Amino acid sequence: MGGMNGETLMRRILDHGSRADPYPLYTELRRTPVCRQEDGSYAVSTYHELLALLHDPRLTSTHAEREAADGGQLPPSFLGMDPPEHDRVRSLAMRQFGPPHSPSRIQDMRGELESTVRKLIDAFPEGGEVDLVDAFAYPFPVTVICRLLGVPHEDEPRFRTWADKLVASIDPRPGEDPAIRLREGAETRRELALYLNDLVEKGAHGSGDGAGDGSGDGSGDGMLFRLADDHDAEGGPLSRLELLVTAVLLLIAGHETTVNLITNGMLTLLRRPEQWERLRREPEIAPRLVEELLRFEPPVQIIPQRGALADIEIGDVTIPEGSVVALVLASGNRDPKRFTDPDTFDPDRPDIEHLGFGSGIHSCFGAPLARLEAQIALTELVRRLDNARLLQDPPPYRSSAVLRGPRHLTIGFDRVLA
Ligand code: HEM
Repeated sequence: MGGMNGETLMRRILDHGSRADPYPLYTELRRTPVCRQEDGSYAVSTYHELLALLHDPRLTSTHAEREAADGGQLPPSFLGMDPPEHDRVRSLAMRQFGPPHSPSRIQDMRGELESTVRKLIDAFPEGGEVDLVDAFAYPFPVTVICRLLGVPHEDEPRFRTWADKLVASIDPRPGEDPAIRLREGAETRRELALYLNDLVEKGAHGSGDGAGDGSGDGSGDGMLFRLADDHDAEGGPLSRLELLVTAVLLLIAGHETTVNLITNGMLTLLRRPEQWERLRREPEIAPRLVEELLRFEPPVQIIPQRGALADIEIGDVTIPEGSVVALVLASGNRDPKRFTDPDTFDPDRPDIEHLGFGSGIHSCFGAPLARLEAQIALTELVRRLDNARLLQDPPPYRSSAVLRGPRHLTIGFDRVLA
């Protein structure tokens, strides 16, 4: 009791040994809602303080160092911009993704998502054992984002290699100079941007044999091309560079996160057979269940680096101008001052206003897609896997404390139902 101060705690949270269950450490961290770390940065861990800061224009999302690592060749995406540039680029991108300009874009993908999920499950090995990460949760979102952007079928494997490399470049590797990782990440982003540029140049009508499920629109009609051609929009279209950087962002931001939401979901359901059974019998609860998952096991646990543009008074602390601020979203989601019985997984709770997608101007752009992907994935897995069980609990985790999730999730099952 009391001996463990906040700075040591944050280090323990980042330690790989804490990955399977960081939640008791968050509980301790919340005793100091805004906690100064030994390196001068601040960790924020309580719901109301997090919400206030997520809406505070005095916290910047720009990153001078990260931009320097890119060698100045690729400008930041809108994730790393502040208003007014952020709002301009985000709203131009949103015109091709959601309301009011493209209100049904995501719902229209439902058939395609369902058929992608069906094919992945059909390919599960006969032996009754599968790693859900490699066989399902990993390939699913990449396939979907390729379709959304308009990447031709035959290029999907290349695209997936880049996605894997980008994910690897986000993950800290113990004992290695982070500069190496940043450089590799920058290099991969450049390669990917060059590939996408080529695709835009060619107008990309090479959608392969078109032997999809018939529900998709041809790749030449993907979001990438609509964005490039959006001459009617106020402030548009995006410059070529802005377009490429935005496409790379959509790939990265929607990849590891969705993988983790699906695997965290399967882990949570396999640990709670009554919840598994309920989703199987009442698939209509999937939306509430996914919402509660985003509270209970959020794939983005921490927004690691916002910057204070001014002195910010919050609670009884002043965060000095120039400080780095880490927003521990996953801790806010378990704050008992906000949620009754926060450590219980309960899809029936009345107001699941979690921080899993952040909040404010940077709140997740892809949320409607991520929700639909997870709802369909979990509903179908639960429906089709007969007598599924965890073969390793806790599973091995990826090293990242920020984008937290199992590296493998090996399960056994009796058979795959039709
Ligand atoms: C379960 C899956 C996902 C989770 C948990 C998640 C979580 C988040 C969070 C917490 C943020 C806020 C970051 C910040 O404030 O700095 C964010 C932003 C963002 N997300 Fe997601 N995300 C998911 C899936 C996706 C998908 C599928 C896409 C793309 C199709 C996507 C695209 C973005 C973009 C572009 C931003 C930046 C928004 C901005 O800066 O205005 N995300 N996401």
